[in-house]
Amino acid sequence: MERPIRILIAEGDIHFIEMIKESLRVLDDPYQIETVSSGEECLKRLQEEDFDLLLLDQMLSDGSGLEWLRRFNGLGIGIPTIFVTVQGDSKVALEAMKEGVFDYINRSPECAKAFPFVANRALQGFHLMLEKVRLQKELIETKNFLESIVEKAGDAISVVDLEGRVLYWNEGAERIYGYRKEEVLGQKVSEFLYPKDKKLKEEEERLMKELMARVLKGEVIPNVEVRRQTKEGREIITNMTLSPLRDAEGRIIGVTRICKDVTQMKRAEERLLLTERLTSLGELTAGVAHELRNPLAGIKINTQILLRRKDLSETERRLLESTEEGIEKIQKIVEDMLHFAKPKPAEFREAQINSLLEDSLNMLQTKFKKANIALEFLKEEGLPKVWIDVHQIQQALINLILNAIQAMERGGRLTLRTFLDGERVGVEVKDTGVGISPSHLKRIFDPFFTTKSEGTGLGLSITLKIIEAHGGSIDVQSEEGVGSTFTIYLPVRREDGV
Ligand SMILES: Nc1ncnc2c1ncn2[C@@H]1O[C@H](COP(=O)(O)OP(=O)(O)O)[C@@H](O)[C@H]1O
Ligand SMILES: [Mg+2]
Repeated sequence: MERPIRILIAEGDIHFIEMIKESLRVLDDPYQIETVSSGEECLKRLQEEDFDLLLLDQMLSDGSGLEWLRRFNGLGIGIPTIFVTVQGDSKVALEAMKEGVFDYINRSPECAKAFPFVANRALQGFHLMLEKVRLQKELIETKNFLESIVEKAGDAISVVDLEGRVLYWNEGAERIYGYRKEEVLGQKVSEFLYPKDKKLKEEEERLMKELMARVLKGEVIPNVEVRRQTKEGREIITNMTLSPLRDAEGRIIGVTRICKDVTQMKRAEERLLLTERLTSLGELTAGVAHELRNPLAGIKINTQILLRRKDLSETERRLLESTEEGIEKIQKIVEDMLHFAKPKPAEFREAQINSLLEDSLNMLQTKFKKANIALEFLKEEGLPKVWIDVHQIQQALINLILNAIQAMERGGRLTLRTFLDGERVGVEVKDTGVGISPSHLKRIFDPFFTTKSEGTGLGLSITLKIIEAHGGSIDVQSEEGVGSTFTIYLPVRREDGV
């Protein structure tokens, strides 16, 4: 059987109580009624037991019902309450309503008759209210839950409006792009997140325009690769998924963008591709270079024999000398190619990177003077030793320094810096030269890529190969018209000799 509805009546008028009881008797619903005549008792019973409904009269033996009502509220007693007033006292009724009673009735026979309906309405209202509070709480919890997932997600999650202005920016976005929420809310993404390079920027703008148009028609677009620039000016590649954001009526009001930083992964992929290309190219090059070496040596000796003759005219001598020069140039290239393809077996030993750099600088001293280049060497003292093939590393460093010199035809400043970076020793070669355009930057490590009329395009590919054979890595940063910085990292020799 259903639990009876428990009603507490705080009422001094016995007649009225009887009328109320009478009105309930005609109903099928089981009611359980308890009466008290004072506020004090009423409070005691409310604290002792659970009632479903309170009928509270304004006239109690120990004060006004309104005062007691305020006291119950102050104590946090939440029970649906119906207030009883003397006929016509609407001021008190209003006050009671303000205190949160569900309804009020007059202390009259008509009202007593209507009590079951009033009671029912109050009970239902109360349950609805409880349900509403519960739903609201649930909604807030769900909202907080979802917000914290989105906020703390490792990926960059942002929302832009139809014009591309940022509406939302999570912590992942702050971390990946370096911009804080406050800096970007309301800003157009295209104004701060696209690459600086004009051509790349235009490409991005075109791509995003196209994608946005599709999303605004309702499409979800997964995994598009886009280039972005971080606040510090670093270029990164992100993998982006776009989806439309709709309001309650289903209208599209913006675009949600989830982005993963895939720069490292892309770099690794590119390196792997390059290594593969280098290997196959290396084999080819080795073959060609080898075939060229002997005939070249023959031509050179023949030229030298001819040059020894006493009866040469001045013109003949000049022609032969220029031939010899040409041969030597070709021989140098062939040697480079051979080295690139089949470097000599490495001879590793312990070495100090600072002294190695000093030796290399000494070798190039006259070149600096001629080119009007100021030299600065910022060396960190007490660096741990590195385990290297001294000749190879020297070759790598000289390649970088020569490139720097060649980039500063009108003079400039070359800064070398050594430093410790965790388990690695770093060497930075920084110039104030012409810089490298973003489209060239991708290709400078490719063998035979050169922008110089006299270049072989092998310097950097050999350098990269050497550094990677040492378990190290190389980084480039460059801005056209400002200069370039190449940084080599070499692993420190550990105690166990690895
Ligand atoms: N420090 C630098 N400043 C500007 N451009 C550079 C620098 N280093 C390398 N480069 C670019 O990279 C290309 C390839 O370099 P490299 O492999 O050494 O070949 P090469 O020096 O024979 O051209 C160069 O032609 C040049 O365009
Ligand atoms: Mg070079």
